[in-house]
Amino acid sequence: MAERRDVVIIGAGAAGMMCAIEAGRRGRRVLVVDHARAPGEKIRISGGGRCNFTNIHAGPKNFLSANPHFCKSALARYTPRDFLDLVERHRIPWHEKTLGQLFCDNSAKDIIAMLLAEMKAAGTELRLSTPIGAVEHDGRAFRVVTEHGTVEASSLVVATGGKSIPKMGATGFAYRIAEQFGLTVTETRAGLVPLTLDPAMLAAHEGLPGVAVDVVARHGKAEFREAALFTHRGLSGPAILQISSYWREGEEIALTLCPDVDFAAAIAAARRENGRQAVQTVLAEHMPKKLAQLLVTELGIDGPLAEQSGRRIEALLQRLRDWRLRPPGSEGYRTAEVTLGGVDTAALDSRSMAAKAVPGLYFIGEAVDVTGWLGGYNFQWAWASGHAAGGHA
Ligand code: FDA
Repeated sequence: MAERRDVVIIGAGAAGMMCAIEAGRRGRRVLVVDHARAPGEKIRISGGGRCNFTNIHAGPKNFLSANPHFCKSALARYTPRDFLDLVERHRIPWHEKTLGQLFCDNSAKDIIAMLLAEMKAAGTELRLSTPIGAVEHDGRAFRVVTEHGTVEASSLVVATGGKSIPKMGATGFAYRIAEQFGLTVTETRAGLVPLTLDPAMLAAHEGLPGVAVDVVARHGKAEFREAALFTHRGLSGPAILQISSYWREGEEIALTLCPDVDFAAAIAAARRENGRQAVQTVLAEHMPKKLAQLLVTELGIDGPLAEQSGRRIEALLQRLRDWRLRPPGSEGYRTAEVTLGGVDTAALDSRSMAAKAVPGLYFIGEAVDVTGWLGGYNFQWAWASGHAAGGHA
């Protein structure tokens, strides 16, 4: 005998929990199932343990999707202010870090506790450590077969996220269910991910791991002005993670180093004042010494500033303005913060997240082909899409 509920939500992550709260408030009998031992594991580790839970500037322009209009409806109906109101009602201390990014003062666990309290208040039930065997549909109800019995419901919400960080239980489950019901899944790839450099370049960059520098990172029309970080494998830091979502394997990215500094003026002034100093000494006034050294070495610049030809200095300025790098790959899903692509938005209704062709079936959160920038946007999408589905399921 199957248990009966109105709504079964698979996945107790950010989107699934928000959906449960909203559906429960409407009086629906909601069961959330997850194969993990704890809910909201990605919330727990997010933002360095302090959860960048939203971004006050979040809008459709901050998301990548085959259909950039799809996210508009849900984002407009559940805004960063709505989530912030919830956070404030629970007296969770928070602060804005930079660029509209809101973080908990204390711990990401505050957000998980808040969501669990809201789920409880809404009368929903959470079942953890429950692997899913199969999902069946007889045209009327969905049957979710789990290791702990079968549950039947008229609505099924798939909130199992993307493929990033498989070590934390990420699976391609949502894509499999989408395909089972005839929905298209767009190509998936790792996003917000560190990029690798080839071994020869890494050898030349020996000593740089740990060095950070302000950059504008560019790829096509996308550009992000934040920090870049050299690592043992290649490049990371917010600017690189951001641009990685626009980049594809083997393509070039361009970096402007220290965009606030007018290096042409700085070098000209240094030449007038003390032409005997080394070029890297001038650069090191504005960037880490090791990076300054690498740049002059790579361009074969040696000796005092006064002895450098105009051509050499121009080559250096060009490198500072427009450093072209061709990362051969990324660190992949192992470290990616998100999965780009996913359940095709063409198959979903943008107001409710319902599958147009399968009444009662919903996809929310990262599983859907909507991916945010770094900076609290991905959680905002999880809250907004969860809220949208919870209002209908
Ligand atoms: P999410 O992945 O959160 O939840 C999916 C749930 O489904 C999990 O509980 C999982 O166990 C369960 N599940 C998966 N497969 C299953 C299966 N087969 N059967 C049963 N259950 C299954 N974003 C942001 O806005 N601000 C931030 O600070 C950060 N920081 C950050 C740090 C790191 C290290 C990562 C990896 C990611 C972030 N993110 C982020 C991104 C953010 O965590 C992500 O976009 C959301 O968690 C997506 O929410 P979902 O609910 O869609 O999936």
